[in-house]
Amino acid sequence: MAKVLVIGGSGFVSGTVARAAVAAGHKTWVVTRGQKELPAGVTALVADRKDQPAFAAAIDSAGTDWDVVYDCIGYFAPDARQDVEVFRNRTPQLGFISTDFVYDPPFRKVPQPVETEHFLTDDSYGANKRRCELELINGDTGDMKWTVIRPCHIYGPGSELGCLPKHGRDKELLNRIRAGEPLELVGAGYFLQQPIFVRDLAAFFLSIIGNRNAHGQIYNMYGPDIIQSRDYYDIIADVLGTKAKYIELPVDQYREEHPEHVSFLCHRVSTLDKMREHGLAVPATPLVDGLIEHTKSLLAQGR
Ligand SMILES: NC(=O)c1ccc[n+]([C@@H]2O[C@H](COP(=O)([O-])OP(=O)(O)OC[C@H]3O[C@@H](n4cnc5c(N)ncnc54)[C@H](OP(=O)(O)O)[C@@H]3O)[C@@H](O)[C@H]2O)c1
Repeated sequence: MAKVLVIGGSGFVSGTVARAAVAAGHKTWVVTRGQKELPAGVTALVADRKDQPAFAAAIDSAGTDWDVVYDCIGYFAPDARQDVEVFRNRTPQLGFISTDFVYDPPFRKVPQPVETEHFLTDDSYGANKRRCELELINGDTGDMKWTVIRPCHIYGPGSELGCLPKHGRDKELLNRIRAGEPLELVGAGYFLQQPIFVRDLAAFFLSIIGNRNAHGQIYNMYGPDIIQSRDYYDIIADVLGTKAKYIELPVDQYREEHPEHVSFLCHRVSTLDKMREHGLAVPATPLVDGLIEHTKSLLAQGR
């Protein structure tokens, strides 16, 4: 049994990580602002991480150290700096959730290696995640070893469905498909993706505990199935007992109109070899199984 701290812990990804830690028998703390219901079995710490002194005081108040700390909600360089400062002497291992949007889309490869010189450097979400990574890579982390994961589209119960514009995280997706409304997908949904089921991500994260191979390593956090994005919507339609229809949004035009979505406009494929070679939990949930569960979870909510 390990002592685990999750930064976040009541959201989609962070909540799944916290629940998986509890289910694995780990003694689990979470730190949130206290606005959402917490998973059963966790010890709550309450602080807004943006309030640095309050965050440090909340961590202090726990009166313990941890075998691993997972930062599930670091978005800007100061967040990762905070991890280094607050946890350097409190944990031997830090897991940090980055994103595959760190990669500069025109330079992406199929499959995409972790090692590249082509990262976004603008003011985007992905560029700021890369700045977080650099804080860990270049920071004085002392005896705290870090592990970074770069997830692609994460799906599973607790989130909305939809992996590509204009139907990314679309609350109305099930209604649209049921109504026979054609889905407007950029590039007609032919971009390749490898969505990761949220519980597979959590299982991977837990598997880094005590695994020295994961020290100072970055992993592309992808699922086992490489699919065309439209396959994702076809599976959902299948659960609904119908067929999805599509309209193609031209890629170049969409890029011009939505520069903020540029990271979607490329194939997003990687291998899972590094996880396997390092003896870590390799994502294995077939996309069909995970998407059926995800869709049914929304249907159970009355969607
Ligand atoms: N979804 C994807 O497809 C995808 C892809 C790649 C990477 N990611 C990454 O995955 C991670 C998780 O994403 P998510 O959307 O599922 O987030 P999440 O885990 O739902 O994060 C929200 C959690 O953080 C807490 N929180 C929010 N702001 C806080 C603050 N200032 N101080 C303390 N606690 C705070 C929330 O509780 P309270 O509201 O009670 O504070 C809640 O527990 C992110 O790092 C994201 O960049 C996601």
